[in-house]
Amino acid sequence: MSTTSTTSPTLLYIDDDEALARLVDRGLTRLGLKVVHAASGQEGLDRIAKGGIDVVALDQYMPGLDGLETLEQILKIPDAPPVVFVTASQDSAIAVTALKAGAADYLVKDIHGEFIPLLQVAVNGALRQAELQRARDEAEAEIHASRDRFAALAAEREVLLREVNHRVGNSLQIIASLLHLQASSATQDDVKAALTNAMGRVAAVAQVHRRLYTSHDLKSVLLNQYLESLLEDLRRSAEGNRMSRLTLKAEPIEIDPDRAVGIGIIVNELVMNAVKYAYPEGAGPIHVELKAEGDDLVLTISDDGVGLNVKADPRSTGLGQRIVSAMASKLEASVERDPDHSGTRILVRFPRASAATAKSASAAAS
Ligand SMILES: Nc1ncnc2c1ncn2[C@@H]1O[C@H](COP(=O)(O)OP(=O)(O)OP(=O)(O)O)[C@@H](O)[C@H]1O
Ligand SMILES: [Mg+2]
Repeated sequence: MSTTSTTSPTLLYIDDDEALARLVDRGLTRLGLKVVHAASGQEGLDRIAKGGIDVVALDQYMPGLDGLETLEQILKIPDAPPVVFVTASQDSAIAVTALKAGAADYLVKDIHGEFIPLLQVAVNGALRQAELQRARDEAEAEIHASRDRFAALAAEREVLLREVNHRVGNSLQIIASLLHLQASSATQDDVKAALTNAMGRVAAVAQVHRRLYTSHDLKSVLLNQYLESLLEDLRRSAEGNRMSRLTLKAEPIEIDPDRAVGIGIIVNELVMNAVKYAYPEGAGPIHVELKAEGDDLVLTISDDGVGLNVKADPRSTGLGQRIVSAMASKLEASVERDPDHSGTRILVRFPRASAATAKSASAAAS
């Protein structure tokens, strides 16, 4: 806070009129101000540069720099004291110019006898105004500082979140690798497929965390990249030799990480089903496709195999079906089979954002 409230404020009176300056000095000193006199604009500027001036009264007519020119120089000084501009009565245009340029107030000079008390009122008003301005600046600086602190905290939090995602992703990847090892050493085909299935489920979650570690923001995942790495995991799995013709066609769509996990798990289940059942003789094409249709996303997993067997396969646990249903209801998705496709073609259609998220997002936007 400024010192003006505890000690008497110092007024710099800039005027070449020595007699009036003495009058101002005597009158305002009696009213509790400290008065310093400068006889020219330049002398006034030099005096302000030395510091300790709380308020300036500035006359327009002076040899050398006139009042408006001096005012311009004063206002260039950082933390300049407020200026009360003094003019003759016929110069209201100059007074307006001074106010527009940044003077705190103006005062007409030739009201004899009234000049000193009016000057005091104007000076006190200017001091109060400057005090308010200072308080406002301080408050604003405080707001800026806390905004900066907040930004720093948010950045730190983001780094930590990335780090956590990285570690969680790595740990899950280790579990997926263990399942992969176990699948590779299994001798029975069913066991191999079941372990690969489990590996795929874990990898689907792991990949989301790994994507979040590298994504530019932590609130979304690029689906095409995510699905690409998911399928890459599957190709490297124990059942990988049966996925030589596994293809992906996906648009670059950003989506909430939670939804990405659901999509990844569905893809894993349906691809593994195609691997397990579509081609009893070995391998064949399996296509994964993702595209946007308005506000919806459509995921298609298709094969050209034997087609969906209506009567349950003795190898079936039914768990895959249940997992797909659970993920689909989480995504608010419809799951349909294309009856015209030879082989199996499953369409999963779901809104890009969950209804709850979309509602809160539109509420935030309005
Ligand atoms: N692409 C496909 N081609 C032919 N038949 C399929 C295909 N996908 C699924 N099926 C049939 O549907 C049944 C149900 O699949 P579901 O995923 O529910 O169980 P699962 O795959 O047998 O068991 P899990 O997923 O737990 O390993 C399978 O047993 C199989 O007969
Ligand atoms: Mg299955």
